[in-house]
Amino acid sequence: MKTVIVCASVSHGNTRRIADTMAHILDDAKVVSPEQAGPAELAGADLIGFGSGVFYGRLHPQLTDFVRALPAGRGRAFVFATSGLPEMPLAPFTRPLARLLEGKGFEVEGSFLCRAFDTWAPFKLVGGINKQRPNGADLAGARAFAERLRDGRPQDGRGSLA
Ligand SMILES: Cc1cc2nc3c(=O)[nH]c(=O)nc-3n(C[C@H](O)[C@H](O)[C@H](O)COP(=O)(O)O)c2cc1C
Repeated sequence: MKTVIVCASVSHGNTRRIADTMAHILDDAKVVSPEQAGPAELAGADLIGFGSGVFYGRLHPQLTDFVRALPAGRGRAFVFATSGLPEMPLAPFTRPLARLLEGKGFEVEGSFLCRAFDTWAPFKLVGGINKQRPNGADLAGARAFAERLRDGRPQDGRGSLA
């Protein structure tokens, strides 16, 4: 199974750590930034992951602009994110991107979110929040999520709830 993971991780590399952990389970999937992801590469993939940190309540524009520019396609996809704050239960951070992908014809099989180190303005004053995250439990959650995708039993996933 060829898997490609498109990941915009611009702040602390938090989302990249999640992407690398998932890639390891998904037959050493290639992890690329939106700038590196060529149309030919994606066209040959059986499964494509899309992930970034959350900025001002949304996934990073590098990622969403990339998806917006994709031609209509089909195939399996998943979405993942890291955030400083918890999401609102009725407004998951990943939902708008999942909808965008579905509008393009992708079948979005699941989403994964975990909290991660955050030095956004107010938190910088105290040296950031969620230090040491993603932690071992978050990475274990990412591994379990990727295993379910690999085994064809997708289900949304979370990092440590602590
Ligand atoms: C400018 C800025 C804005 C942010 N906005 C939010 C936000 O609205 N909600 C949230 O939960 N986290 C927010 N964060 C925290 C990031 O989502 C978090 O640190 C994320 O793990 C960054 O991922 P990355 O290191 O892969 O880029 C913000 C961080 C920065 C620097």
